[in-house]
Amino acid sequence: MARDEVAEALSALEAHKREIGAVKISKFFQDDPERFARFHIALDDLIFDFSKHRLTEKTFALLLDLARSARVEARRAALFAGEAVNATERRPALHMALRNLSGKPMFAEGVDVMPDVVAERGKMEAFAEAIRSGSIKAANGERFTDIVNFGIGGSDLGPKMAAQALAPFVADHLTLHFVANVDGADIGDTLKRLPLSTTLFVICSKTFTTLETMTNARTARDRVARTLGEKAVADHFCAVSTHLDKIAEFGVRSDRVFGFWDWVGGRYSIWSSIGLSLAIGIGARQFQEFLRGGEDIDTHFLEAPLERNIPVIMALLGVWYRDFWGFSTLAIIPYDERLGRFPAYIQQLDMESNGKSVDLSGAPVTMATAPIIFGEPGTNCQHAFFQLFHQGQTIVPVDFLIAAEPTCADPAHHQLLLANCLAQSQALMQGRALDEVVLRLQAEGLSSEAAVALAPHKAFAGDRPSSTLLYKQLTPRALGRLIALYEHKVFVQGVIWNINSFDQWGVELGKELAIELAPIIADGARSTRGLDPSTAGLIEA
Ligand code: F6P
Repeated sequence: MARDEVAEALSALEAHKREIGAVKISKFFQDDPERFARFHIALDDLIFDFSKHRLTEKTFALLLDLARSARVEARRAALFAGEAVNATERRPALHMALRNLSGKPMFAEGVDVMPDVVAERGKMEAFAEAIRSGSIKAANGERFTDIVNFGIGGSDLGPKMAAQALAPFVADHLTLHFVANVDGADIGDTLKRLPLSTTLFVICSKTFTTLETMTNARTARDRVARTLGEKAVADHFCAVSTHLDKIAEFGVRSDRVFGFWDWVGGRYSIWSSIGLSLAIGIGARQFQEFLRGGEDIDTHFLEAPLERNIPVIMALLGVWYRDFWGFSTLAIIPYDERLGRFPAYIQQLDMESNGKSVDLSGAPVTMATAPIIFGEPGTNCQHAFFQLFHQGQTIVPVDFLIAAEPTCADPAHHQLLLANCLAQSQALMQGRALDEVVLRLQAEGLSSEAAVALAPHKAFAGDRPSSTLLYKQLTPRALGRLIALYEHKVFVQGVIWNINSFDQWGVELGKELAIELAPIIADGARSTRGLDPSTAGLIEA
């Protein structure tokens, strides 16, 4: 039985952790000058360095045993074969088909999806190009200048993160905006700075029922109808969804409707027509490069042996820390200002996928699952929360992301950025011992008494693990690679934890209750009877 084998692999790792628990990462480096060579993987111009971890050859072998015992390879094959791996919703998770540029078929429950995928992609890209070139015009006959994406969660985070990441590739005559929150400040502030007569609104919602997106889209529709006239609505709106029937009710022209499929999860939908605003911004050719980056990683994930497989290793390191060391967070720190929203994007991907308490059979899951993901771009976060990383009691494993070369930025700045990124992972790993601090303070002229008193405040325990993902430049292809790496990492962890990474029932209860509370609030809190006293009290107040 696979789960019995998993239990055995887990006990072996538990015993091994007791053996190596006290040995520091810096000691591993002292003992093995070849450690970087041993523990990094180069995939073309992408380098994944995992040498700064609490990991020996034996740890690595035992973690790989864990992956094998959990049948990662068989489950990976099932994922790519389009089996219904999302068991609770009885559907495949086949977002890889959206970036399959190989011409080969891919099947969702036995049906080749590629003809539909290629046709829809072609339609979406042609529309994007027509908006860019101005062959599709606003109601007043002018070229569109502004694109507003309405969506939330996966229908917002992906296009928004990618548009910022790829800003140098966005056409100069276009400005992209993203409105997600039902908070009227979001749409209100956006509408205020828009030239409405040359703005295209893109409504993105897989279900086309999501409260936030539909509320924002209706507000914009009203504004367009009032300001430019009802007839202009047809020219200024387009929509992306799997529920094409619902779009027609909204009044979007049928040739401006782009579909995708229920086997694409919301947080995996950036590769689909949900990427429309991005495709308008960067153009069809660069959008295909972005897809190609995702495809590169699919090939790597499928073909590389587990011990050379980057997403597999990322997943195993995460399990090692989450389940054996009790580290409950993971910081994603891009030293890349344009990846400012990347941590938030991965936060949804990871926490919505693997934030689960029951296994595939519905029984309580026996291992700790998804870590809390957070992060901000460096160097800014060095001056915010890195103090805790270096000297706090909580150990936070870090993924550092950095480009070897800048994209449209001053090379001198980039050298400083690189130096800071490398310095942080170095400092976290090696720390600075108390006696060394004392000596340094004495060398600076402090008395030995004063040096001994101050030293504990200036000492660093070190031994804080991190990985570094170094890519050549933040191009569309590099971004596609980064996203897909994390997608497959999350999948592998889900396999090891034996959970369904593709549903998200946890977001439903809050949505349901909001629908019940909204009329009570609208009604001036006249009937709060039956509500818990806290909620009732707050509504009345
Ligand atoms: O919050 C849950 C969720 O379903 C996400 O998974 C999804 O990305 C988001 O809402 C938006 O959903 P939709 O695209 O259907 O509007």
